[in-house]
Amino acid sequence: MKLIDNYGRVLRDLRISITPRCNYHCVYCHPLGMEMSDPPGTVTTDDVRHFLRAAARLGMDAVRFTGGEPLVRRELPEMIEAAAATPGVRDVAVTTNGTLFRRRHKELLAAGLSRVNISIDAVNPDVFRNLTRGGEIAQVWDAIELALELELHPVKLNAVVIGGINDQEVGDLAALSVDRPLHVRFIEYMHLNNAPFDEYQRQFVSGAETRRRIEERFGPLEEVPTDPSSPARVWKVAGSQGTIGFINSVSEPFCSNCTRLRLTSDKKIRPCLLTDLELDIAWAFEADDPVAALQEALLAAAGKKPRQGSTLPTVRERVMLGIGG
Ligand code: GTP
Ligand code: 5AD
Repeated sequence: MKLIDNYGRVLRDLRISITPRCNYHCVYCHPLGMEMSDPPGTVTTDDVRHFLRAAARLGMDAVRFTGGEPLVRRELPEMIEAAAATPGVRDVAVTTNGTLFRRRHKELLAAGLSRVNISIDAVNPDVFRNLTRGGEIAQVWDAIELALELELHPVKLNAVVIGGINDQEVGDLAALSVDRPLHVRFIEYMHLNNAPFDEYQRQFVSGAETRRRIEERFGPLEEVPTDPSSPARVWKVAGSQGTIGFINSVSEPFCSNCTRLRLTSDKKIRPCLLTDLELDIAWAFEADDPVAALQEALLAAAGKKPRQGSTLPTVRERVMLGIGG
């Protein structure tokens, strides 16, 4: 059975935000001063297990755990184990800031983690500290090295480009893809942090502009064929081991190829990253047969997935921190 929305898109990718907490406070993700504890009612491992069973019965086969920062959640290994043990699930990944990866990698890998996408928005330690509001880049390098050592290929690196903050770093970030199999993705800054609209507009840098700056340094990039459902269009510097991707969600929305649904840590299905609509499905986790009830909830959510989301600056009910990227 497949989960097909009203526009014929087959939904296969599930993103589960398991906590609204993060040990970083990146400027693009959320305003300062957010509550940093998991409220009562946050998804449990059993909830995740039931949800995945339901989703897999409907043909969803790729799971990504996000946050906040998923590695701050003690139960993450149990959740990965539940995902890896779900019949039909073929890929279990996390998107992380890398800070806790060294400390936790053994339990995560033993549980069945296949891959990590690591956020690194600058190579200059001061730029990095400023953007993450206090982060130490050495921990992220360590996580990247470890992911390579452990051969968790492909190791993808995410960088959100923000004018006047880290846009001068794009060449050095792109250079990371040359000598090692690192897949650097430049992400257009989306207005999902409730930043002042004019500030956001001033700071927005298009993927085309980022690419122009990278080509100024490395010459014309070569195109690498990619799966159309992936948000990144991928290129490489001739002869390099890794690749350079552009996730141009604002200037080139990829809604027609979007195959995702999200579960938030407070038990809501969010059918589209860029639309505030969410379906509260807490009731389904409490049902006598939660897997059957969650299947119903997923079918209902698929029917509500909008044809496209909006990247226009607007005040969001939930900021990126609670959506998980
Ligand atoms: P892979 O399967 O490894 O390619 O993962 P991914 O790129 O889907 O996951 P990741 O969490 O690394 O996402 C990278 C970035 O893509 C996110 O941080 C968002 O900025 C953007 N993105 C992810 N999902 C969506 C989506 O549904 N819509 C839009 N417009 N952008 C998205
Ligand atoms: N715009 C684009 N991407 C964002 N992310 C977080 N906030 C934003 C935003 N405003 C992405 C980061 C990180 C992931 C968790 O979410 O790249 O990799």
